[in-house]
Amino acid sequence: MKKVVLLIFCLAFLLSMINSGDFKYVGVKKCKMCHKGERKGNVYEKWQERAHAKAFESLKKKGEEKNPKCLECHTTAFNKGGYKVDDPKASNFEGVQCESCHGPGSVYKKTSIMKNRELALKNGLVNITEKNCTVCHDGAKCEHAKEFNYKEALKAIDHTVEKK
Ligand code: HEC
Ligand code: HEC
Ligand code: HEC
Ligand code: HEC
Repeated sequence: MKKVVLLIFCLAFLLSMINSGDFKYVGVKKCKMCHKGERKGNVYEKWQERAHAKAFESLKKKGEEKNPKCLECHTTAFNKGGYKVDDPKASNFEGVQCESCHGPGSVYKKTSIMKNRELALKNGLVNITEKNCTVCHDGAKCEHAKEFNYKEALKAIDHTVEKK
């Protein structure tokens, strides 16, 4: 009996690995391909103009671009499959990119999945709530984070695409 329970447990564990382990961070250049330009609502351009895109530059200005204490909030998925110090691919993950909020895009970035929100949510897309911001916007973790008002902050980063 115990063996059966153990076996079921192992299978469940393996299945959960298959489900979560497949989603990898791909970097903003991949998202840019389909989300830039007037016709697509200038989503990439709006992001690029604002502070999130420049978060790594802010560290460089302070000479802190290798400090793990800063990289956690000023890069994308630091040590979680995204930014990694001295990694050849690190530059793909500088700043607070799309996937910091929307989740790792290796699977959902396929057009057929992207067009279907339900399907995308099953494939790594995150249903964003305040918690997805306060992982970084947390005064307890860094004193320079200003008071965070979710509604106001959402307005500030808005990149809604006008429906035609
Ligand atoms: C091959 C093209 C393509 C790529 C690459 C791509 N997208 Fe998309 N994305 C789309 C299309 C098409 C839609 C659906 C737009 C619509 O239906 O109006 C979409 C929709 C979305 C949505 C809205 C989903 C919803 O239903 O609420 C988000 C968020 C998004 N993309 C984020 C990303 C991110 C982040 C990346 C990079 C990891 C990315 N996309 C890469 C084509 C793409
Ligand atoms: C990975 C960490 C991280 C996450 C997640 C994150 N932010 Fe930020 N945010 C930052 C950093 C770092 C800055 C400052 C960048 C700089 O100036 O160097 C910032 C700046 C801002 C600013 C001020 C600058 C501006 O563009 O107006 C707003 C507003 C903001 N974030 C809103 C949000 C919202 C809303 C969410 C969630 C949907 C969110 N952030 C998620 C790290 C994060
Ligand atoms: C817990 C997340 C977090 C950590 C850790 C963090 N930051 Fe920030 N940082 C933020 C947020 C959020 C903002 C945006 C400020 C705001 O609008 O709330 C920001 C903004 C900044 C800015 C630009 C805006 C300003 O106020 O001048 C600089 C520079 C900066 N951080 C440097 C650093 C350095 C250096 C470290 C490491 C010693 C660090 N940060 C660690 C979250 C973080
Ligand atoms: C700081 C967090 C954050 C970052 C960074 C971010 N987004 Fe978003 N995005 C949101 C939020 C919040 C929404 C609105 C709620 C939702 O769709 O979950 C949104 C909505 C969207 C939508 C749907 C727009 C609509 O009209 O339905 C698309 C497409 C999208 N984002 C793509 C991107 C792409 C591409 C990037 C990078 C170039 C990016 N986002 C960067 C938080 C972010």
